[in-house]
Amino acid sequence: MEESLVPPSIELKDIYKDYGDVHALNGLSFRLEPGERCALLGPNGAGKTTTLKILVGLLSPTSGEARIGNLVPSSEDARRMMGYLPDDASPYRSFSVRENMEYIGALRGVENVSDKVDRLLDSLKLREYERAKVGRLSRGNVQKLALALAIIHRPSVLFLDEPLNYLDIPTQETVIDQLKNLNSTQLVSTHIMEVATRLTDRVVMISHGSVVWNGTLDDLKKLGKDGEPIERVVARMLTDVL
Ligand SMILES: Nc1ncnc2c1ncn2[C@@H]1O[C@H](COP(=O)(O)OP(=O)(O)OP(=O)(O)O)[C@@H](O)[C@H]1O
Ligand SMILES: [Mg+2]
Repeated sequence: MEESLVPPSIELKDIYKDYGDVHALNGLSFRLEPGERCALLGPNGAGKTTTLKILVGLLSPTSGEARIGNLVPSSEDARRMMGYLPDDASPYRSFSVRENMEYIGALRGVENVSDKVDRLLDSLKLREYERAKVGRLSRGNVQKLALALAIIHRPSVLFLDEPLNYLDIPTQETVIDQLKNLNSTQLVSTHIMEVATRLTDRVVMISHGSVVWNGTLDDLKKLGKDGEPIERVVARMLTDVL
């Protein structure tokens, strides 16, 4: 299968994003090296979704620069490399599960789409719903389909907004395995520490649209006193800056 060997870096340089009077991002800067898996952690309203939307080229920053490798996110070449799971993932409701996968797979230029769809249906345990219309699926099964659509073309850079939301525990484990098997740079937005620890090795913590801490999960754990749970360490750090 065709797959670029070295996934791209991701970089944000001094990004500001205003929605009218709301200053959502305030000088946000960080960089992921090729192949790194990083959690974007922060409280509600911190700017995680806005950051991802800028990185996938759906929003333009008010100022600052975003780069996927050396490409701007809205360029065709950058978009070809990307997979994106939005926070409000909405596959085509009047299409079946299989139709959604085959359609997006074809748009993404996947070879042998039908075989690829078969593999995803089995690995994500969606086989029994392959002919069901999306409008009739449970929320968890919609999330599984949205994940399948985000990775069907084996993207070399992946942006996931709260990827384990709505998933039952066995499915979470399956998804964690699948994401770890991709040769890609991954940025995973979450406010759940356990999601960060299961999926990534590094954390960029943001609050009010700028970085408050950036480092490895191991370093984050070391900031805890006497076996203090990592969630408490994070809560303390975020409370200090709120
Ligand atoms: N379309 C919009 N118009 C106006 N304000 C917006 C818009 N989208 C987001 N905001 C504001 O920008 C800020 C950042 O929002 P964002 O959705 O990026 O946060 P988040 O970290 O993803 O939060 P959550 O954890 O709740 O998903 C918030 O103050 C939010 O109210
Ligand atoms: Mg969000």
